[in-house]
Parts: sequence; C-alpha cells; structure tokens
Amino acid sequence: MARKFFVGGNWKCNGTVESVSKLVDTLNAGEIVSTDIVEVVVAPTFIHIPLVKDRLRSEIQVSAQNCWVKKGGAYTGEVSAEQLVDLGIPYVILGHSERRHILKESHDFVGQKCAYALSKGLKVIACIGETLDEREAGNTIKVCAEQLIAIKEAIGENWSDVVVAYEPVWAIGTGKVATPEQAEEVHAELRKWLAENVSAEVAEATRILYGGSVTAGNCKELAKKPNVDGFLVGGAALKPEFIDIINSAQ
Ligand code: G3H
Repeated sequence: MARKFFVGGNWKCNGTVESVSKLVDTLNAGEIVSTDIVEVVVAPTFIHIPLVKDRLRSEIQVSAQNCWVKKGGAYTGEVSAEQLVDLGIPYVILGHSERRHILKESHDFVGQKCAYALSKGLKVIACIGETLDEREAGNTIKVCAEQLIAIKEAIGENWSDVVVAYEPVWAIGTGKVATPEQAEEVHAELRKWLAENVSAEVAEATRILYGGSVTAGNCKELAKKPNVDGFLVGGAALKPEFIDIINSAQ
C-alpha cells in the first residue's frame, strides 16, 4: 500500500492564547487537499492543546511535543502518555533534537519513551538526525542508525504506529534546508536500514519525513523525492504558508 503523505507542524515553545487562536483560524480557513492524500498533525505546547483541539478543523489532528517515559506520578513538570490518551490526543513527537541536545535525552531514553507511548496507544513521530560535525565526518547514517537501534531495541518489530522524522540538526531553524538530493539519499538509506534491521514490510510502510527549514518555497521539490513521505515543519508551521506545505502532498 502506498504511504500516505504526512505533514506535521511542530509549534515548539511558541504562542500565546491570542496568537494560537489566530493560527487556528488561519488553518481552519485554508483550502487543503483531501485527507485521502495527506495526514496533517499540529503540535502546540501542552497548555495550548485543549484550545487547539476544541477549535481546530477535524481534518487536522493534534499532537503533543513530548511525554513522560513511563506511568505518571511524582514527576514534577512532566505529562504522561496516559494523560494525552485521556485527552484524545493521537500523536506525540519524541526524540526531537532540541530535547536530545539541550535536555540531554539519550538514545535509550528516547527509545523507552517511544515504547511506553506506543504501549498506551499513542502514535509516535520519532525524530532522528545528525549534527553538522557528524555529517562532515561522514557519520550521518551511523548516527541515525544508532538512534534507530535504540528505538528498535525498545519497540521491537512494532512500527505500524511510528512515523520517522529525519531532521538534520544543521538544518533546523537555520534556513539551511537539505537539498532534495541530500534528503533523498539519507531517506533511502534509512529505509534500507529498516528493511535490513526490522523487516521489508516495515521499511515499505513506514513514513519517513524530512524536517529542517522546510518552507512553502522548497517543499515541492523535496516532496517529489520517492523516499520523502512528508515533512515535520517548525518555523513555517506558525505561518499561513503551512497550508502550502500541506498542499505539496504527492
Ligand atoms: O520539528 C521541526 C524541526 O525542528 C524543524 O524546524 O522548520 O524551524 O527548521 P524548522
């Protein structure tokens, strides 16, 4: 079965009630291609999730940007997978490079989070990607594979509710987007990794998104690449151009 294009908007730690409400209005008013062609998800901050969920058109799903690694309890400041499920949130972003690098989340910790979230019925957008130094040292695939191995060790063969987001750290928020050829090269290698280390079926079915300075201007060329199954968008997801990115669906 063909992989359905997927466009995620990661709003990160941005927004006020006023600006988030305006963004929801913009998304509600935009003309978007059918959900038969594209799956669309936006990830507001935890505090804005109820507002967005109540007001956003039903064709766009709501995701969290993170969740706790196990059952909730005495973990100050955390939000559990169970709480997201209770609220009717279908997706969670895990392993974003900002959490890996700034908050020092290890590969294993991200793997465990993926496993726990999946076990509670959440779908996971699992982020991986290399730094500029790692790319320049020729280690892009090695680094991505290490991140995938930790996820695989935690979740096993169960990838049906996982979307992989390849986000080169050097491209995130920098305006330096990967070229379509660079993205395709890594995505093809990641799919090969899935085929060799999980299964041919999982490799064929798993959506691999590209993230890092995606805009309305560069998304169409990226979307033409056979192994680019969609995008995880940061800055441009806060702007009306997110509609154009959704509509780049192939
Ligand atoms: O999760 C989204 C990525 O970090 C990309 O962010 O589009 O602002 O570069 P960006």
